[in-house]
Amino acid sequence: MIHTPQADAPTGLFHLRAAGTSLVLDARGTAVPVIVHWGADLGELNGAELAVLADAAVPAVSPSSIDVPLRLSLLPTLAEGWSGRPGVTGFRRGTAAPGRPAELALRLDAVQSRGARTLRIDTADAGASVSVSTDLELTVEGVLRVRHTLTNTGDTDFELGSLDVTLPVPDRAGELLDFTGLWSHERRPQRTTLAHGVWSRESRHGRPGHDDPFLSVAGVPGFGFRRGEVWAVHLAWSGDKRVWAERSALGAATLGTGELLAPGELALPAGAAYATPWTVAAYSAAGLDGLSARLHPWIRSWATPAADATARTLRPVVLNTWEAVYFDHDLPTLTRLVEAAAQVGVERFVLDDGWFTGRTDDRRALGDWFVDPLTWPSGLHPLVERVHTVGLSFGLWVEPEMVSLDSELAHAHPDWVLGAAGALEWRFQRVLDLGNPDAFAYVLARLTALLDEYPIAYLKWDHNRDLLGGSAHRQTSAVYRLLGMLRAAHPELEIESCASGGARIDLGILPLVDRVWTSDTNDPLERQQIQRYTGVLVPPEYLGGHLGAATAHTTGRTASLGFRLATALFGSAGIEWDLTRASAGELEVIAGWIAQYTRLRPLLHSGAVVHADASDPALELHGVVAADGASAVFAYVALAAPRTALPAPLRFPGLDPAAHYTVRPLTIGGPVDPGAESSGAGEAGVPSVAPRVIQDAAPAWLRHGSVTLSGAVLTEVGLPAPLLAPEQAALYELTRL
Ligand code: DGJ
Repeated sequence: MIHTPQADAPTGLFHLRAAGTSLVLDARGTAVPVIVHWGADLGELNGAELAVLADAAVPAVSPSSIDVPLRLSLLPTLAEGWSGRPGVTGFRRGTAAPGRPAELALRLDAVQSRGARTLRIDTADAGASVSVSTDLELTVEGVLRVRHTLTNTGDTDFELGSLDVTLPVPDRAGELLDFTGLWSHERRPQRTTLAHGVWSRESRHGRPGHDDPFLSVAGVPGFGFRRGEVWAVHLAWSGDKRVWAERSALGAATLGTGELLAPGELALPAGAAYATPWTVAAYSAAGLDGLSARLHPWIRSWATPAADATARTLRPVVLNTWEAVYFDHDLPTLTRLVEAAAQVGVERFVLDDGWFTGRTDDRRALGDWFVDPLTWPSGLHPLVERVHTVGLSFGLWVEPEMVSLDSELAHAHPDWVLGAAGALEWRFQRVLDLGNPDAFAYVLARLTALLDEYPIAYLKWDHNRDLLGGSAHRQTSAVYRLLGMLRAAHPELEIESCASGGARIDLGILPLVDRVWTSDTNDPLERQQIQRYTGVLVPPEYLGGHLGAATAHTTGRTASLGFRLATALFGSAGIEWDLTRASAGELEVIAGWIAQYTRLRPLLHSGAVVHADASDPALELHGVVAADGASAVFAYVALAAPRTALPAPLRFPGLDPAAHYTVRPLTIGGPVDPGAESSGAGEAGVPSVAPRVIQDAAPAWLRHGSVTLSGAVLTEVGLPAPLLAPEQAALYELTRL
């Protein structure tokens, strides 16, 4: 349907509804449309009711202000009297009033509705020779997607400053949650009051970075995982960006997102267009889990070439060589590792950094994507053959966007290095300018040659530095193009996005990959938090989580085998440990863990991710409940010593209240008495992976071995918790009767 604005017509009102969310858009008249409501479902509203709602939403005219009611449009500008962050800025060189973004005065041309929940809104400023189309979609899961496309309809360059998506949040959204972090400590939550002014998070890393704001959530103060109304935004983009929350002194509060464009970065020639990345937004009446309940099913509905719904639940168990051997590659050592991996049931062997010409350490050779002839005189073939003989698939690490100055590539093509000569190195490397067609073609050719020569099922695609120069827009667009071309040519290939761990996890790259390397740390204590918060946005089957050595290489902290295994279970599981050094007992436990994991994988990788709101920050209960409510797996985690001698009961969220469930402790790895204290070693020398407890007697239901109760009772009343020692996790499996 195409709606052409007419004065006084009651048409031009749109009500999009899905899964408990409503969005009402007022596109009457010729002004840029206004979102009247984005939040809880308003139920069925007829045209007359919508008109009353939209009319009633027109505010008063405040003193000392513009003389008409101030309304936040989809593209707010000074021309509309909006003195907050503008939705669009730019200028045309040589015009009478350069640098006057306020001159843009967009008017509505048409609204096209494409189905019940998709709109395209066309606006234009004829005088400025600029038009903007806004695509807005409420998905069936209740995820809101918005993007603008600006076209330069003039006959000279238009210098785009910014083009952003601004969404309204109500006054009661007084608290803001977003994230920060650093290498090996990604996704640290931070909260602030949404006071007057702008809280702006800006990334100039050329990748989201370890401190990526990731997901910005405004909500009623004190919102949690299961409580409180929340409104969240995320920019589906892997380059520079701005994400902000603003409350104006007039009262309006907004969440905004957009690509962060450097001055002069986007000069649009006559007729050219720029489309913003998608802003992905969601509303939930019930906290962060409610956001995941929309975002995860939506992400799972994407069909990436290598990962349809079936492939996703079968995401293989990986052994990655990095922390096992680092750069010390040799065939006999790696062959022993392959055999140890096969022995415990690993399904994929990934050869990490160190395999290509001259790559003896991290100071050289990036860009020389040829198998090192000294280490590998017969190429990688003997290793790959061994991997296949023992029944595993083969994966390979690459870092295609980078170049070492000490490389054949940089010597031959210094002009392919992004940024000025003599610019800073980072991990002794520079960025390869993928916006240069020759550099792009070289990388594509080298990757294609490797994929043609070897049966590579999976690329671990790394990105270990900030850009620090060049156009992040151009580079990011080029890497998306490169990934897209590889995927199209190799539909079975799976790719993992890694950027020194989790510095590039976003919904721009996610449609192009199958897995993300959540963090470089395998320390389970750090991982609990990193996975918890990365998992609000990204479903667990994407989140690579590996069993590392007892003493974590990143933190030097030592953790029990049980805690490490329980932590790595809730994601796309793997191993990052020299298994040739593991004891026979440890290998037996790991084999048992992999068997449990593969049994639970269809549930873990398709169910709803849930968290109890803990009163004690040292204690967390999280789990996955099957989509049909038939089963669930939970982990009860003690991050530190609890605050009270008798912790709060385990109240299992997300269950079908009317169903009855049997709750049993879940043993990973070895034979364990569920109520018993861990002695460190079980029968026949097999290390016990039961969590260490500090209690004279276990709760009665645990001593009994199981209990059956209704979902309502298990969620509302819960079960007495065992007294876990710090840095321990207990697992429970729930089965519906
Ligand atoms: C950084 C990654 O995050 C690590 O997992 C590993 O692949 C190294 N790079 C290799 O250089």
